[in-house]
Amino acid sequence: MKLRSIELSLPNAAQAHQWMIDIWGCADAGQQDGTYYLRGSGTYPYLVALAENADNYVRTVTWVCSAERLAQVAQAAMQRGLNAAPVISNDPGGGHGLVVELAEGECLRFLVDASEVAPIAGHSKASRRVMPVKLTHVVFNAADAEASGDLVEDVLGFRVSDRTKGMVFVRCNEAHHSTAFARAGFASLNHIAFEMEDLDSVMRGIGCMRDHGFAPAWGPGRHGPGDNVYAYYIAPFGPVIEYSTPVEKVPADYVAGAPDDWTWPEKRIDQWGMSDKDFAGLRIAEEMFKFRREWDPAPIAQLAGA
Ligand SMILES: [Fe+2]
Repeated sequence: MKLRSIELSLPNAAQAHQWMIDIWGCADAGQQDGTYYLRGSGTYPYLVALAENADNYVRTVTWVCSAERLAQVAQAAMQRGLNAAPVISNDPGGGHGLVVELAEGECLRFLVDASEVAPIAGHSKASRRVMPVKLTHVVFNAADAEASGDLVEDVLGFRVSDRTKGMVFVRCNEAHHSTAFARAGFASLNHIAFEMEDLDSVMRGIGCMRDHGFAPAWGPGRHGPGDNVYAYYIAPFGPVIEYSTPVEKVPADYVAGAPDDWTWPEKRIDQWGMSDKDFAGLRIAEEMFKFRREWDPAPIAQLAGA
């Protein structure tokens, strides 16, 4: 199971698309029917879809998986009585599977048979250009992060990796987390993290953003859970986006840490303690994108092999 992409709706999608290419460093993955696509240097056909709409909202977050895992998710979603529907993807890479709505409205799409593309090479260290490889995690705000963690363990077969005072971190493969639920008291998109090749690429990303007048809303720093180096920005079109190194890999028998295992000295909220955090600005950005279900629930028994 792998996190692949996020699908957003927003006003001025074309402008946001161009900013993500010119400033953030994504590559153009084309457009169709008012939806603009962005890719990284990795093999996914796109990482972010930006659909033109009067409102800001998250349409779906997309995972790719095996047919066996898809059937398990379908079976479990049916048993829990969650809203779900079969889906055929018209996005680049195609594929088919199901979309399921979690308890707080998060719409997650699971695809099989989605195709990949040749990676982009040549954005060398000699160049000032930075390009994300793929998404490393997409984090949600939740009214009840514990319940959300339990739900994705039960229905999606994900595993809680760590709990902190602020977050429930969840993995769907050997990476420490591909998603997390923040103890926010409301449901929305918390942030989208783009995986950079290495620490140097994160730092050069910060430099490129600085060239264009953008300072991090938080970072650079190194997180506790996941051990990744990060820099968070508020994109001019709204959402919180992050440059991140790959999060650490954990074994299948990794013992989930509790909030008391992840404490910091006073005034510290990361391993390095070298940057301030714009709590107020980030909070406003985090409230901009909530989920909206654009599809009607439909029987998925066939997908579950039932
Ligand atoms: Fe993150």
